[in-house]
Amino acid sequence: MMRLDRFLCETGFGTRSQVKELLKKGQVLVNGQAAKRPEQKIEEGKDVVLCGGKQAVYAQAVYLMLYKPAGTVSATEDAKERTVLDLLDTGDRRDLFPVGRLDKDSEGLLLLTSDGELAHRLLSPKKHVDKVYYARVEGRVAEEHAERFAAGLDIGEKAPTLPAALEILKSGEISEVRVTVREGKFHQVKRMFAAVGCRVIYLKRLRMGTLALDETLKAGEYRRLTEDEIRDLKRLTGQAERPE
Ligand code: URA
Repeated sequence: MMRLDRFLCETGFGTRSQVKELLKKGQVLVNGQAAKRPEQKIEEGKDVVLCGGKQAVYAQAVYLMLYKPAGTVSATEDAKERTVLDLLDTGDRRDLFPVGRLDKDSEGLLLLTSDGELAHRLLSPKKHVDKVYYARVEGRVAEEHAERFAAGLDIGEKAPTLPAALEILKSGEISEVRVTVREGKFHQVKRMFAAVGCRVIYLKRLRMGTLALDETLKAGEYRRLTEDEIRDLKRLTGQAERPE
């Protein structure tokens, strides 16, 4: 069961305020009766809801975790390149899109979903969802770099980057690090290392918010999220706190 206004939003009839207007104008029928109350409860798959004469059909959102391999682009379609959706079985593809982007040469965790609201919340600059990456970097990474990452770096944007955590796993001519950033600017991690004179030669996303890459997945493989994983992501972004 869910509220009528949420049901209409999730079936593509607009934002909460647009849906409220439609209800006010008497455009919505539930089982043949005019419905005006946004809080009216709807049973998905049972109640027949018409909005402006069109049926609102509720399809359960799908959530997949993909281990994106290098060489694929984070897009739903591309004229030349292989996209992450090309890696899915055809039956799994419908309405899915990647939540954010990994560069073509980056790999690791990519969430694919049909839940536009969750995607929007996870990507919102206001939410500061942590993203954790493992990187191999040309150049000797030292504590001084970690301090600069924590202080915020000039990567050519209006504002410096938000404080980021840099954990040095190995320091050498090729260093290994774990980086946690709370924004998602274009080429963010590569640009942060470039700002301190290093070059990222391998980048893999390990985590996004509460969602960690399943270590049993190989590059190119994917699986559905568990109920717990979906719930945790929704809680993290405040989605579950809305009234049903
Ligand atoms: N930062 C980058 O530079 N590239 C990615 O793919 C992700 C984060």
